[in-house]
Amino acid sequence: MTTKDEPRPLRVLQLTDPHLMAKADGDLLGVNTRDSLQAVIEQVLEQHGRPDLILATGDIAQDGSAEAYQVFGESLKVFDCPSAWIGGNHDHAETLARVAGDYNANQRHLVRDGWQFVLLDSSVPGKVFGALADAELAFLADALAANPELPAVVCLHHHPVDIGSDWMAQIGLTNRDAFWQVIDRFPQVKLVLWGHIHQEFEQTRRHAQLLASPSTCIQFTSGSSDFAVEERPPGYRWFEFHDSGEFRSEVGRATAFQFQLDRNSTGY
Ligand SMILES: [Fe+2]
Repeated sequence: MTTKDEPRPLRVLQLTDPHLMAKADGDLLGVNTRDSLQAVIEQVLEQHGRPDLILATGDIAQDGSAEAYQVFGESLKVFDCPSAWIGGNHDHAETLARVAGDYNANQRHLVRDGWQFVLLDSSVPGKVFGALADAELAFLADALAANPELPAVVCLHHHPVDIGSDWMAQIGLTNRDAFWQVIDRFPQVKLVLWGHIHQEFEQTRRHAQLLASPSTCIQFTSGSSDFAVEERPPGYRWFEFHDSGEFRSEVGRATAFQFQLDRNSTGY
């Protein structure tokens, strides 16, 4: 060999907001959420193959049922890799935690190939908006302080910045100042990643890239002042993390998935 082999990057898949239901024919605005998740999984396998780790950033269930979480766990088996799940506003925290435990998907601090992943619970029971309890903020600060040499990815469900959509302004992370006070102290945080907004989003803050991703079911129209959905295919985000501390990511979509979206709905 005349050229040095590049070390293989860590391959990570983000799946977010699948909104699964106990009923196999359960749909959200006309989209069968089991079918759309399956279409996304097939697209990932075709496009990239298997990841090394899956991050599921909330709203795994629409109805909080154990069946929905089990469907999610069974669906991921095809990837044959670890996953980590956190809850969103639609989830039932205890049921999610119990089923996630069955699939060994309940770890909230993972170290892989020189990177660390911290997963935070921003859900507030009975509320659509999010907040990080003091214990979550302390967990974040402790994890980052204990591993200062490791570049970090911080995941949560709710958006911690304004995304330019009026109806979503009230349902993001309410105590975002406290969150950023922690993040800003730790320059090793390279990425803050979330779900909830059902759309692709990208911004930079100091040392961190801020990213959100399409849902595996329905997509919200970006920049809309009122609730609105658009007919874009279900999607996911794919990452490659390098041991240099750099990473690249791209959004993929299940473009062949056929669906009839109910665009007249005023909520989800
Ligand atoms: Fe959602």
